Amino acid sequence: MMNWFPGKERAAPVVEPASPNDTARLAAIHGASFHRGWGESEFEAMLAERNTLIQRLRLRSNVIGFAVSRIAADEAEILSIAIDAGYRGQGFSSGLLFTHLGHLAGRGVRTVFLEVEENNQPARRLYERAGFTIAGRRERYYREAGGQELNALVLRRNLS
Ligand SMILES: CC(C)(COP(=O)(O)OP(=O)(O)OC[C@H]1O[C@@H](n2cnc3c(N)ncnc32)[C@H](O)[C@@H]1OP(=O)(O)O)[C@@H](O)C(=O)NCCC(=O)NCCS
Repeated sequence: MMNWFPGKERAAPVVEPASPNDTARLAAIHGASFHRGWGESEFEAMLAERNTLIQRLRLRSNVIGFAVSRIAADEAEILSIAIDAGYRGQGFSSGLLFTHLGHLAGRGVRTVFLEVEENNQPARRLYERAGFTIAGRRERYYREAGGQELNALVLRRNLS
């Protein structure tokens, strides 16, 4: 078959452990994705914690996303997951999430929790497709920059 775009065939993103060299990029993606962004020093501190799993999503030479979880005994909480805005809507988050869950399972985690803003449809679709179910609801849990209060859903998924 003819290749209309020589050298432009799609590359697959790779999930890898994040390193201290990634903190500026991770902080930039986080800051552009969430109302209260995490700084480089917060990522550095988390990378040094044995109970925190931080994985990056790399496409060619670009880090385009990440997932962060904190593990306690056989439970984990996904603290943050984000894809660079320029790479959203291409299904990249599913592979990142599934690989991340696999690593949590490999570390003995049996149950994963997370909080998601009730109206965050891309995130809710992502988690629903990954098998998360609603375990609770927290009224007016998030406060937006403009003062608007938003509800959080607590989601849960068993890994065993
Ligand atoms: C949530 C996020 C990680 C999803 O990443 P992504 O790679 O763009 O996601 P995908 O392309 O896999 O799309 C996920 C689902 O959301 C849907 N979706 C995408 N944009 C949407 C929109 N604007 N409205 C409704 N659904 C949307 C997709 O169709 C897909 O659903 P499907 O699998 O049923 O088709 C990304 O949007 C992001 O980084 N958001 C900012 C940070 C954030 O909110 N993180 C989650 C915090 S809990």
